[in-house]
Amino acid sequence: MNIRKEESRDYKEVFKLIKSAFENEEYTDHKEQFLVERLRNSEAFVPELSLVAEIDGEIVGYILLTKIRIINNDLQKTSLALAPIAVLKKHQGKGIGGKLIQESHRKAKELGFDSVILLGHEKYYPKFGYAMTKNYGIKLPFEVPDENCMLIELTENALKNITGIVEYPKEFYE
Ligand SMILES: CC(C)(COP(=O)(O)OP(=O)(O)OC[C@H]1O[C@@H](n2cnc3c(N)ncnc32)[C@H](O)[C@@H]1OP(=O)(O)O)[C@@H](O)C(=O)NCCC(=O)NCCS
Repeated sequence: MNIRKEESRDYKEVFKLIKSAFENEEYTDHKEQFLVERLRNSEAFVPELSLVAEIDGEIVGYILLTKIRIINNDLQKTSLALAPIAVLKKHQGKGIGGKLIQESHRKAKELGFDSVILLGHEKYYPKFGYAMTKNYGIKLPFEVPDENCMLIELTENALKNITGIVEYPKEFYE
């Protein structure tokens, strides 16, 4: 399996992949494929953080990290949102999702980002070092259980003394 940056020629295949991966998921609006289309055209987009996992020329997984901010009055801290991640059903449970997460972290760190925030399943992401944003005094702007709001520091103490509310790009709300 190879993980590489997504190119525009991949957009169609990635669209289908996301649609089918989320098809039977419960906690979703089944519109993640459209979210990705909007984010690619937004200021939050970092092309190097839009990654595909490929096996023999077939795209089997996708992950996207986009820029967000943690706001506390006049203070702003740049971070990244992980959304979405998707692996084709027939390839799930083989560690591909985990490898995509780790590679996205590595690349993000290389680009100078120091944290990633997400809304996701409380049993999956802690395997990769994620902990509740609540422990950091950071809140997501959604009405969801605390246990689903998670973050990881890519560099030690990246979010020390940082508290506030996460501001997502408007593309998340359309
Ligand atoms: C979530 C997803 C990307 C994980 O990819 P993957 O390649 O199957 O994950 P990995 O093989 O790295 O990890 C598999 C492990 O995670 C667990 N896992 C996978 N998806 C999970 C989920 N939604 N909730 C809880 N645990 C999950 C598996 O049980 C397995 O556990 P184990 O290692 O203890 O056996 C994939 O299942 C997927 O595309 N799901 C549909 C889309 C989705 O829900 N995306 C996430 C939105 S928060």
